[in-house]
Amino acid sequence: MKMTRRLALAATLALPLAAPAMAQTQITIQHPLPLNSHYGAGATALKESFERASAGRYSVVIQRNDNEREAIESVQIGTIECVITSTGPVGNFVPETRNLDVPFLFRDTAHARGVLDSEIGQTMLGRFSARGLAGVVWMENGFRHLTNSRREVNTPADVRGLKVRTMENQVHMRAFSTLGALPTPMAFSELVPALQQGTVDGQENPIPVIVANNLNQVQRFLTLTGHVYSPAILICNPAMLARLSAADRAAFLEAAKAAAAANRARVTADEQSGVAELRRRGMTVVTQVDSAAFQQALAAAFTEYERTLDGALLRRIRAWQ
Ligand code: PAF
Repeated sequence: MKMTRRLALAATLALPLAAPAMAQTQITIQHPLPLNSHYGAGATALKESFERASAGRYSVVIQRNDNEREAIESVQIGTIECVITSTGPVGNFVPETRNLDVPFLFRDTAHARGVLDSEIGQTMLGRFSARGLAGVVWMENGFRHLTNSRREVNTPADVRGLKVRTMENQVHMRAFSTLGALPTPMAFSELVPALQQGTVDGQENPIPVIVANNLNQVQRFLTLTGHVYSPAILICNPAMLARLSAADRAAFLEAAKAAAAANRARVTADEQSGVAELRRRGMTVVTQVDSAAFQQALAAAFTEYERTLDGALLRRIRAWQ
């Protein structure tokens, strides 16, 4: 009798465990950086916010893929759901975004964030749907700076002859060829071996990327050129978003906003501490840069951008207050 009661009690206690497991839908987000980075901070915020809001019905899996073009293609064909990527390769999918890649377009971070959050940035997000992609929210990398293993770069003339890895982005390539460098486009996944083997002398990326990827181990000189703002974007598969219920979609979009806020906060923090950290790690840093001289040296490229990109949009962005 006693035994039967014990069994009954055990069965009662075990009941919740024996209940059928709740079906969980997986959403995979790829990005090209270590988890401890400004992209990792954004992806983690999205995961925490959406999993909490959906009471565990969705699980967000964060994966690293340092080939941004490949990851965008995977989102387009639906083998993964989302990607956080720089705009580097995005112009090959949504050509309008190339306007945002023009050097010295944004005065500072507040200008860049303001434009992306304004009707200009939101209209640009709308352009993704025609390419089988959903532009969900703008994120960022920060302003890009030049590093190399050959010499201190103090003036535009010092860039001449340097083999510089650029992203697979024709706007950036044009800028570096105008400065007399030899731009070599490649995916980020190929960068460190290319620097180690001397296939390229240098590269350009924002401070948070240089710090998170220990590029100081393969590059000696850093010049704070701030030659171009580097937007990033959360892109998702439109069919995945369409499958979400209205309430889940709203929760996902809220989570995406939380991701952008976490990403920007981390960029701000990394930019504040990063230069001192890179000096501590042994890099020689040139901080006094004559930005006007670099802009003058880029005159021919600017004329071409006005002609080949959307000149009216570029003027609107420059005039944005
Ligand atoms: O240099 C690049 O390819 C990009 O800036 C990076 C590091 C992948 C971040 O989006």
